[in-house]
Amino acid sequence: MQQEIAQQRRIYLFVMAQTQTSVQQSANEGAATEFVVRVRDVVKEYQMGKLTVRALDGVNLDIYRGEYLSIMGPSGSGKSTLFNMIGGLDKPTAGSVFIDDVDMAQLDPQELAFIRCHRIGYIFQTFNLIPVMTALENVTLPMVFAGVNADEARERGVELLTLVGLGGRLHHKPTELSGGQQQRVAIARSLANNPSIILADEPTGNLDLKTGKEIIELLRRLNKERGVTIISATHDLKMLDISDRIVWIRDGKIERIERRSELQLKVGEVEGEAG
Ligand SMILES: Nc1ncnc2c1ncn2[C@@H]1O[C@H](COP(=O)(O)OP(=O)(O)OP(=O)(O)O)[C@@H](O)[C@H]1O
Ligand SMILES: [Mg+2]
Repeated sequence: MQQEIAQQRRIYLFVMAQTQTSVQQSANEGAATEFVVRVRDVVKEYQMGKLTVRALDGVNLDIYRGEYLSIMGPSGSGKSTLFNMIGGLDKPTAGSVFIDDVDMAQLDPQELAFIRCHRIGYIFQTFNLIPVMTALENVTLPMVFAGVNADEARERGVELLTLVGLGGRLHHKPTELSGGQQQRVAIARSLANNPSIILADEPTGNLDLKTGKEIIELLRRLNKERGVTIISATHDLKMLDISDRIVWIRDGKIERIERRSELQLKVGEVEGEAG
């Protein structure tokens, strides 16, 4: 019981610190609020027996609040690794990741869990829905973890599934849905606790061209209408059309960052990048 109180207290203090930070930042005329994510000198090495694999090699990246950012690069270039660092799913070997000016490395496991539950929504290539649960149950699960009461969770779940065009599929289990519909459920789930960031790792990787296009349009709509920052690792060149900026990554390093308006695709490069 005491442990639980201590944990609640830590979360409370953390939320208060967050609130104060954002108040100070607004007083600063938004000088620091411009970036929702800052990646500083991040190195990630994996140890494979005696071999060290350097998956990220000194990455620096500032991500604007409300932008749609695509991370593109050949297979093995470090996209998913960067995704895991930003999402707090794994820790850098060196360097730091700041979410809303909070250094993720300084958080204890409860605080990290709080950020992951409330600030970030995750979408994966393979949807990662829970097979025995209905669409609605999959979407309400993160709300249950966040302590939302059952009635409110249900109401919000129906709302989110309707938003992604699945109001008529609430009680279907994942196997009773098409791939595109499963990804829509995953998108609704990622929005469950109203996050400021959605991280999507190859969200169209398992979908056909048309369905992939629909999912991309849906993500763009959510980005525009709800102001949620979308960070997507992808091979999908259709994503270029709707991204505000594209980060090209190769061998664990940022090769270049382009705004959509200045996008210069060289013939031949596309195929290589699309790997
Ligand atoms: N858990 C791990 N242990 C060891 N090496 C890893 C691990 N995860 C990734 N790597 C290595 O790190 C490098 C970057 O991998 P990562 O998964 O980030 O690439 P990616 O750009 O997402 O590729 P893809 O487009 O194929 O998904 C690769 O060389 C990979 O082999
Ligand atoms: Mg990957």
